[in-house]
Amino acid sequence: MSGTGLFLTFEGIDGSGKSTQARRLAETLRAAGHDVVLTREPGGSPGAEEIRRLVLEGDPDRWSAETEILLFTAARRDHLERTIEPALAAGRVVICDRFADSTRMYQGLSRGDLRQLVDQLHALMIGREPDLTLLIDMDPETGLSRAKGRQGSEERFEDFGPELQQRMRAGFLDLAREYAHRFRIIDGNRDMDSVAADVTEIVLTHLTRTR
Ligand code: ADP
Ligand code: TYD
Repeated sequence: MSGTGLFLTFEGIDGSGKSTQARRLAETLRAAGHDVVLTREPGGSPGAEEIRRLVLEGDPDRWSAETEILLFTAARRDHLERTIEPALAAGRVVICDRFADSTRMYQGLSRGDLRQLVDQLHALMIGREPDLTLLIDMDPETGLSRAKGRQGSEERFEDFGPELQQRMRAGFLDLAREYAHRFRIIDGNRDMDSVAADVTEIVLTHLTRTR
């Protein structure tokens, strides 16, 4: 692990409230005097934002699962080199809306079992895990209706439908058991303030334990 900063990620199905909670956590930590970088995947650097458009827009079958793994990993490598690593090296708190766990789920599980390929490429090209991952767990039907309510062109994955979201939810819960040391599960089926209160408590507890 390079640098002395803190690397936090939010994970969960589409519409679970990750972006909302990431934004609120950034505000809370900034108010407490922390130097925070709020970022997201796919994206978070100019090159990775260009790749974002390639992977999130267009037909659901635009890319094969294997090509998609390469594109998401390429975006992540650029994001890591240009945004995440420099911020951590400068001692900042990086809050990232999705990271490699999303690839383990979406590309690793959605079209056959490609988890091993995802993990191999991750080990080769990324080689870093977050210090803490906040999994916002929630009912996929509610998540999907929230996500659909946003109206946009980034719908390739949302178009896969509720059955995929159901599998992603179960997969994320399995992943939380696999990486139990860094995952915390938060019940997202509640109002934003209650979810935010849990997020704040978990992160502040982690900060006081590790600093
Ligand atoms: P994600 O980033 O996980 O897809 P967002 O934070 O973008 O989720 O939230 C999706 C939609 O649901 C947004 O319109 C947001 O305002 C709304 N939302 C987020 N959290 C809650 C909540 N706890 N209760 C009700 N609506 C929420
Ligand atoms: P995001 O903008 O976080 O969508 P949402 O706010 O709806 O959760 O991510 C866009 C989509 O990209 C989302 O459906 C999941 C997908 N995705 C992958 O398939 N693999 C990945 O590695 C990442 C980071 C995202």
